[in-house]
Amino acid sequence: MDELFTPENLKWRDRAREIADRVVRPLAAKYDRLQEYPWEIRDAIKEAGLFGVWIPKEYGGHGGGVLDLCLVVEEISRACGGVGVLFAVNALGSFPILLAGTEEQKQHYLPQIARGEKLIAFGLSERNAGSDASGLTTSAREEGDSWIINGQKKWTTNGGAADIYSVFAVTDATSKSRRISAIIVEKGDPGFEIGRREDKMGIRCVPVVELHFDECRVPKDRLLGGRPGLGFKHAMMTLDRARPGVAAQALGLAAGALELSTVYATKRQQFGQPISGFQMVQQMLADMATQVEAGRQLVYAAARACDAGVAELTKLAAMSKLFCTDMAMKVTTDAVQIFGGYGYMKDYPIEKYMRDAKITQIYEGTNQVQRLVVARNLIKESGSLDHLAAFIPLPDHENTIADSERAAQAAGA
Ligand code: CAA
Repeated sequence: MDELFTPENLKWRDRAREIADRVVRPLAAKYDRLQEYPWEIRDAIKEAGLFGVWIPKEYGGHGGGVLDLCLVVEEISRACGGVGVLFAVNALGSFPILLAGTEEQKQHYLPQIARGEKLIAFGLSERNAGSDASGLTTSAREEGDSWIINGQKKWTTNGGAADIYSVFAVTDATSKSRRISAIIVEKGDPGFEIGRREDKMGIRCVPVVELHFDECRVPKDRLLGGRPGLGFKHAMMTLDRARPGVAAQALGLAAGALELSTVYATKRQQFGQPISGFQMVQQMLADMATQVEAGRQLVYAAARACDAGVAELTKLAAMSKLFCTDMAMKVTTDAVQIFGGYGYMKDYPIEKYMRDAKITQIYEGTNQVQRLVVARNLIKESGSLDHLAAFIPLPDHENTIADSERAAQAAGA
């Protein structure tokens, strides 16, 4: 369906596909085993110019949008979900700067990220503030020309490899709605250390670490946007634009697992024929393919909504993340089933897809949080449907369906 995309969309997608097949796929198992950051893959992505895809041209990028970002993440994740997030998390880290940074902050940080010279990470979650992001306690106080940061962050993807960190901290503990601000921290800032590195089920090539701040001093002009108190809002706006990227990662994992399963099913012989000849296997493949395609359309719709800035983007972004990540868990589990006993073994590439898929249901907001976001927005929008109330007999009124019909006729419906 290339006709649905611009030549630019297709350029970035095809470039990512080439890197995924030539560089990422052959190295995926090695870095999964070693749990090391794959700098050689980062270099290939950098040389292909992909780190600049979502960054505007005036800040050294290629001027693409969330749709281009998602196309690239999908292609890379078809070969390795870990590399998919290793790439996508740079968008998550840089969106706060793009959305809220001062012109000086954008001019300083974004070109380095666009060139792939500096990696960036997003420091929001804490030990006791995961889903309840606004409950974070890392603090920052003003002292002379500096901000002094104290506290710890948890589950920071890309941490240690990254040079730049968008860090969310309490700057006014007395305020209810303006408690939190975003501050840029750089590797080497005094009092900033990388803490514990997690040993993970999946996405093992990318580091997920704690960030420790002990009287960490950064210059005052690192406060994002120059105004305190807007950090939580900016974190939420960032997640709206980044969640389609997680959906794209999950989509790529599901699509990649489906491709491998289809090839395996046509080669694997049982009872004297390829297992693709059996209707039970055909049914699984058909259901997997249908789910993947449904997810794909939702990711592209959510990404286009972000690029167009439509009012429904929060809901669509959450829906795309919710649907695609649940779908990826199902499809990758079914893929292991099609591979049978071999699928369970690490000698085969398929069990890694299932392990990598699991985290997509959890990070950047659990799927329980996505349902909450979808439901809250649905209820908020329901005001525009009030005219339908005339058709609904309510239990505490003594009206009937006939009364409702009369009322609707009188209203000219
Ligand atoms: N856009 C703009 N503003 C928004 C917004 C949005 N999408 N969502 C909320 N806000 C604003 C509200 O309007 C409100 O503003 P006022 O105070 O001015 O009225 C304010 O933010 C608070 O909103 P809520 O009352 O809805 O906030 P809440 O405390 O009930 O939280 C939540 C809502 C949806 C549960 C939110 O906390 C959330 O998304 N939690 C999940 C956090 C998350 O995704 N963490 C992942 C971190 S990244 C990661 O996974 C690691 C990694 O490295 C990959």
